[in-house]
Amino acid sequence: MAARTAEKYAKYMFPTVRTLYEEPIVMSRGSGHYLYDEDGKEYLDFFGGILTCGIGHANPKVAEAVSKQAHTLQHCSTLYIIPGQVELAERLLGIVPKGISKFTFANSGTEAIEAAILMAQIATGNDEIIALRHSYSGRSKLAIELTALHNWKQGMAPSGNVKYTHNGYCYRCAFGLGYPSCGMKCAYDLEELIRTSTRGSIAALIAEPVQGVGGVIVPPPEFFPIVADITRKHGGIFISDEVQTGFGRTGGKWFGIEHWGVEPDAITAAKQMASGAPIGALMARAELADRWTAPSISTFGGNPVTMAAACATIDFMKENDTKANAEAMGARLTDGLSRLQRKYPCMGDVRGKGLMIGIEFVKEGKEPAAGLLLKVLEGTKRRGLLVGKGGLDGNVMRLAPHLTITQGEIDGALSVLEDSIAEA
Ligand SMILES: Cc1ncc(COP(=O)(O)O)c(C=O)c1O
Repeated sequence: MAARTAEKYAKYMFPTVRTLYEEPIVMSRGSGHYLYDEDGKEYLDFFGGILTCGIGHANPKVAEAVSKQAHTLQHCSTLYIIPGQVELAERLLGIVPKGISKFTFANSGTEAIEAAILMAQIATGNDEIIALRHSYSGRSKLAIELTALHNWKQGMAPSGNVKYTHNGYCYRCAFGLGYPSCGMKCAYDLEELIRTSTRGSIAALIAEPVQGVGGVIVPPPEFFPIVADITRKHGGIFISDEVQTGFGRTGGKWFGIEHWGVEPDAITAAKQMASGAPIGALMARAELADRWTAPSISTFGGNPVTMAAACATIDFMKENDTKANAEAMGARLTDGLSRLQRKYPCMGDVRGKGLMIGIEFVKEGKEPAAGLLLKVLEGTKRRGLLVGKGGLDGNVMRLAPHLTITQGEIDGALSVLEDSIAEA
C-alpha cells in the first residue's frame, strides 16, 4: 500500500519538495513520541516534524482545543477582532524577553520573517539587512535571499539588499582560530562588513540563536552581545529568529536568545508554538510595531483554530514545565553522545542546547562525511528511530526529541544510534 502512495506522490507533487530516505516513509498516524507508517511500523520520533511537535503527537489538550474551536468559529478573517489573538498575546507577554509587547500573526516562519524585515525597514528607514552565514529563513524569495546555504538558494540571483556576516562556528572557524584566544573575530567582523559593504546604516540583523538547518551551530557566549551592539550602533534592529529555538527547545529558557543575555528588538516564531497548526508570529518592541501603520490584512494569519492550538500548547508547556525537562533530557542525550564520540571518531563534533543537538559526521581531517550520515540515517530508520539532517555539506545529524521525552526513550535512542553508527 505504501509503495502505491509513494508512486502517486512522485507523479502528482512538485519535485522541489524533498523527502528523506532512499524509500520515503508514508506516514499515517502519530501518538505521543511515536509515529506510525502506512504499514503500521512504529518510529520513535527524534525530529518532531522538523522541531514542530514539541509536546507529543496528537496531544489530547491541543486536539481538544482545536476541535472545540473548529466547532465554534473556524474562520472570519482579520477584518474582525479574533479573541484568540488577544488570549495568545497575553500568554506570550508572560514569557517573552523584556521589551517585547506587540504581536502579529501569520501562517509560517517564512511569513513571520517577511513581516519582521518589512517592519524593520519601515521603522528604521533603512533597507539593508544582515544575515548570518549558514542561516536558513524559509521559502519565499526574500527568505531564500536571507538564507546563507547554497543548497537552499534555488539558483536565485541576489537582489543585493542582504549581506552575510560570520556566524560563530567554532568547529570550522572561518579565520582558522580557536576560542577563546580568537578574541571573537567572527563577531567583530560585522563592523567591517557594514562599513565596507553597506551604505553604513542598516535596517536589521536577523539571526537564529542556534542555527538549525545550517547544522545546529551554537556560537560562543560573547557572540550575540557583540553583534547586537554593532547592529544598533549602525541604526539597525536585532531580530532573533526563534522559529526553531523558541518555546523551550533550547532548555531552561523560553527563547534561545535568553542564553546569551541579549534583549532582542523583535522575535520571529513558528513551528513548535502551535504543535503543528500552521502559525507564524512576529513579536516586537511597541515603538517599532507602532511605526507600521499602512493597512494590511492576512486572511488566515491569527485564525481562531490556530490561536486555540497555540494557547493550548503554551498552557501545556507551562503546566508540565517542558523547558526544564528539555534541559535535563538534553544534558542526558548530550552526555550519551559524548560517550559515543570517544568511541567513534567519525562523530567529529557533538553540539547543541537543550533538545536541539547536532552531530557532525566527518572523515579524517574533518572532511564532511555526508555519505556516511546517509547510511546511519537508513540504519536508524530500519531500527525505528527518526532523526534529521542538515549542514552546508549535509553531514550533520539533527536530533530534536519532544520536550516531554523520557529518560528511557533517550537511552533507547542512544543504543539505536550506536548500533547504526557501528554498522555504517
Ligand atoms: C530558523 C528558521 N526560520 C524560518 C524558517 C521557515 O519556516 P517555515 O518553513 O514555517 O516557513 C525555518 C524553517 O525550517 C527555520 O528553521
